[in-house]
Amino acid sequence: MKKNNKKQFSGFQTKAVHSGEEWNPTTSISIPIFQTSTFKLLKYEDEARYAKEVAPFQFYTRWGNPTNKKLEKIMAELESGEEALSFGSGMGAVTMAILANLNSGDHIITSYPIYPEVVLLLKDIISDYGIHSTHLSYNQLDELENYIKDNTRIIYIETPSNPMLEIADLSYIAKICKKYNIISIVDNTFATPYNQNPLKHGIDIVVHSGTKYLGGHSDVVAGIVIGSKKNIEKIWKLSKTFGPILHPFDAWLIIRGLKTLGLRVEKQNYNALKLAQFLKEHKAVKKVYYPGLRDHQNHKIAKKQMKGFGGMLSFDLYGGLKAGKKFTQNVRVAIFAVSLGGTETLITHPAASLNHLNLTEEELSALGITPGLVRVSVGIEDFEDLKRDFKQALQKL
Ligand SMILES: Cc1ncc(COP(=O)(O)O)c(C=O)c1O
Repeated sequence: MKKNNKKQFSGFQTKAVHSGEEWNPTTSISIPIFQTSTFKLLKYEDEARYAKEVAPFQFYTRWGNPTNKKLEKIMAELESGEEALSFGSGMGAVTMAILANLNSGDHIITSYPIYPEVVLLLKDIISDYGIHSTHLSYNQLDELENYIKDNTRIIYIETPSNPMLEIADLSYIAKICKKYNIISIVDNTFATPYNQNPLKHGIDIVVHSGTKYLGGHSDVVAGIVIGSKKNIEKIWKLSKTFGPILHPFDAWLIIRGLKTLGLRVEKQNYNALKLAQFLKEHKAVKKVYYPGLRDHQNHKIAKKQMKGFGGMLSFDLYGGLKAGKKFTQNVRVAIFAVSLGGTETLITHPAASLNHLNLTEEELSALGITPGLVRVSVGIEDFEDLKRDFKQALQKL
């Protein structure tokens, strides 16, 4: 396999289309799917050598695979990291990145609210192994230092956050983490590497649910972690044993999706801003949460660290739970479905869907998740069709 391809690509789309070409040993334009669990050992000594090597690409697919290597190379380029590692789901990526940096007795701080499964991971699962967590609202992050303990090892942040679209200041978080020798991890799923590169702000590790914008077509579940060679090696050692790998066919689907990432996200940035502006003026809508709106509480920080404001927005309906439910059932172009980041517009109703967290209505409202809140993952449809659809669904409330 040719290594050390010296070609330098500067633009985002050029990198998305051409990075990692050295991992394709054939002349095919589209990298083959190396659908194999194992590889022929050319020399007797290879078995012992590969078994000890870090992430060899032609030994056993739980160790590595050329198709996955190409994906990892593209993602490292797009996020300006040294290395990347792919996983069978976003949660696989998040779990490995967190566990690789914690021991029993350690403490982790997260922003809150974030993707609920991460909260369940920390509160219900790894707490049993003597790992403690503190969950801070985005306002409390301003006094982050007050919550750091001697045993704090990780600060884990989502920005923009799920589902309230709150923004954390990446450079500030990175600065505090460096001061206290803490690993910073940022979930960059909502922003995408097109809109935001946390590593450039000094963050140590970026995680993605590749299921969302990276794949981009709602047809694959995947996760990616990007960071320094040292951090990725540490995570690889753990994941080789846990085994949550991404299968080569799914890696290939993400590679295909990435080729159009910049084009899709550009359109999603545009559609989301226009939709947010439209909703803001509608009489059935109490409040719109979108970092691209000038009156969003974190608009200035978003502008500082994001190239575009993303395709995710939430809005609160005056009619509460009943209106939220009715709205989700009345849309005709948008689709009522969980997940996000695909070409089609998807909507969810968080107050109804987050009942597995066992939070009271008051607790949810304190987080901003009011009964009438609707979350939208804006797709790449023509804006006028989306506007017409939202307008007719709002009229029926
Ligand atoms: C922000 C965020 N992070 C992580 C995940 C987990 O990703 P996956 O579903 O691919 O495991 C999700 C899933 O919705 C998410 O929205």
